[in-house]
Amino acid sequence: MAVDAAFAQRLPKIELHAHLTGSISRGTLHDIWRIKKDEDPSLALPDPLVAIPPGVVIDLNTFFPLFSSYIYQLCSDLPSIEFSTKRVLSDFQADGVVYLELRTTPRASPAHNISKDLYVSTVLSILRSHNADPANTLHATLILSIDRRNSLPEAHDTVDLALKHRPFGVVGVDLCGDPAVSGIAKFAPAFQRAKEAGLGITLHFAEATASATDEELRELLRWQPGRIGHVIHVKEEIKDEIVKQGVGVELCLSCNVQLKMHGDGGYEGHHFGWWRGAGVGVALSTDDVGVFESPLSEEYRLAAEHFELTKDDVRKLCEGAVETIFGSEAEKERLRVMYREWDGWTG
Ligand code: IMP
Ligand code: ZN
Repeated sequence: MAVDAAFAQRLPKIELHAHLTGSISRGTLHDIWRIKKDEDPSLALPDPLVAIPPGVVIDLNTFFPLFSSYIYQLCSDLPSIEFSTKRVLSDFQADGVVYLELRTTPRASPAHNISKDLYVSTVLSILRSHNADPANTLHATLILSIDRRNSLPEAHDTVDLALKHRPFGVVGVDLCGDPAVSGIAKFAPAFQRAKEAGLGITLHFAEATASATDEELRELLRWQPGRIGHVIHVKEEIKDEIVKQGVGVELCLSCNVQLKMHGDGGYEGHHFGWWRGAGVGVALSTDDVGVFESPLSEEYRLAAEHFELTKDDVRKLCEGAVETIFGSEAEKERLRVMYREWDGWTG
């Protein structure tokens, strides 16, 4: 009953922590760059396959600038946003993902006449047309991210956008961005408003020591998130509080290992080993598959390899993740039935 690559690929999977721009593959970035370069041979931006060569070692210092200094320059006009979003969805679907909560930070591009509102409605329209095609087995919803660098009024704007676009597929809000940026307590009123309005709340939590002070973690838990992401530098009493509150955890093995976010512990030393038995929902997730190049099926395979998971363990993991999604009750039921009836559990 080995959980091998073929099993992990066939397994219907739930992805709950994926940043849209970080999920764009190098190949897709290259295709966008090619179109732009053909239209304008004087384009100064280098080929993404040269600027971010596959296999290049990225650390926490070079990771965040990758977006601001390169990827956003390439993907800020409407055709590129539409093209890359479509590709991200088809990449997840090809990997056997059946439910996706994609997250993105609303981003205005004045040079292209794009407001944050237009950015969100453009991404949502791609998600909706994907979902409307009965040939597609993947259903996608959207979470809007608040970046740690934002001001409180900007955070409120994001909550407003989430509420405005909720009927069209937004299911929650997220706190993301460089963990070295401090001062998250100011966002409390925005997240409180989102919570009161019934939006799902997910927060990047203790992903670096700088963002893992007692003060910050207790503040974040006061916002009553439905899920938290990474959850690396967490001491026992905070773990107890997370379990007591029943918060789901989104764990990203390859991202953490490649960026050495939990030191040199490798896969065996990953905190998945602790959380899988903690009694809360655990959603294995990719974070930024375009950067780390480890699709969700590979994350399941790696977890199985390093933590000796049986098919039954994987089943419990998947069924636990279902209960933490921000999607509708109907969506949850679709996933429950899918796992109940899946023919891959035996044999
Ligand atoms: P976007 O929100 O679709 O533009 O996706 C890229 C953005 O996601 C980056 O600029 C970061 O702010 C955020 N992001 C991606 N990965 C991480 C992570 O591991 N921690 C915190 N923020 C992240
Ligand atoms: Zn993330």
